[in-house]
Amino acid sequence: MLRGHWYIACRSQQLAKGPLARTIAGEALAIFRGPDGNAAALIDRCAHRNLALSRGKVTAGGLRCAYHGWTWGADGHCTRIPSACEPDACRAIRVKAYPVREQQGFVWVWMASAEKAEPDREPPLFPWLGEPGWRHFVMERVFEADAFHCVENFLDVPHTAHVHRGLFRGEESKEIELEITGGEDWIEAEFIGEERMDSWIGKLLVPAGSAVRHVDRFQLPYVTRVDYRMSEKRQYVVMSQCTPESPERTRVFTYLGFRFEPLGGLIKLIFQPFAGAILNQDVEILRQQTEDLRRTGAARFLYHETDAIARGIRDLLDGKSLAGRAPERKRLKV
Ligand code: FES
Ligand SMILES: [Fe+2]
Repeated sequence: MLRGHWYIACRSQQLAKGPLARTIAGEALAIFRGPDGNAAALIDRCAHRNLALSRGKVTAGGLRCAYHGWTWGADGHCTRIPSACEPDACRAIRVKAYPVREQQGFVWVWMASAEKAEPDREPPLFPWLGEPGWRHFVMERVFEADAFHCVENFLDVPHTAHVHRGLFRGEESKEIELEITGGEDWIEAEFIGEERMDSWIGKLLVPAGSAVRHVDRFQLPYVTRVDYRMSEKRQYVVMSQCTPESPERTRVFTYLGFRFEPLGGLIKLIFQPFAGAILNQDVEILRQQTEDLRRTGAARFLYHETDAIARGIRDLLDGKSLAGRAPERKRLKV
């Protein structure tokens, strides 16, 4: 689980009811909205008797532990020990606090690495969110899988004909060409001369004969982005930000932004349940993969020509830069 990155802890609206327990990269966190309205993240473990702070309540002094009422500010300092006679003495006691940013309706937490204790950049933005002509929705799923298995699945074309049979692509397989390029922390595949998907949703979204520009992209730490562009006024983007919780659990926030003028509202009615159904099929196949790996032992994957960019994703996650690699062309039957 990569450190030295921003990860999404939750959506802003999820903090309305009080503190939330979340795990990121193996660390238990209490996420809450402080009395000043700002989102904050503390280690989910009271310094006193280690009760989870996420069981507590937000008060004027900060997050109040449910056991003995010790209260913690967003900076991690103890602001109050109710039974202490010297109220100021508690300031020296502290719990770990994490850098937090809130933007576009998401709460991000910086998970420091040994080299990067403090953030060296701001969290990424979801493209076109809130821009004129664009609509969007967000789906959140917990995958019982390693974050690598999630990102490779989200950018894997061959499984769509099997796991999403009938929903996504038709029975007919066509040969397409892709061009693969990479950089310091990303890899991208552009599909050359792709036609619309031969399924009911493809026919609905894309007029017959339109040229489709389709680009799949992976970005460190665990970010995937799929762009389909038919024209300026007809395009969509699916971006998944994966938050690794443990080697077998990943919380995924999938943003789907689209522009289909003049049908925007209608498209959302169809797109949202459709995308949700696809995602649920992926949740299930990855749950099965993890269950099977538990039976057979650690992953020993075979990277095949048809895996397109999976090998490159693995290299990036293993710390190898792809900058300077020559672009690669591949052919694939989809
Ligand atoms: S365990 Fe939190 S106040 Fe005692
Ligand atoms: Fe899928």
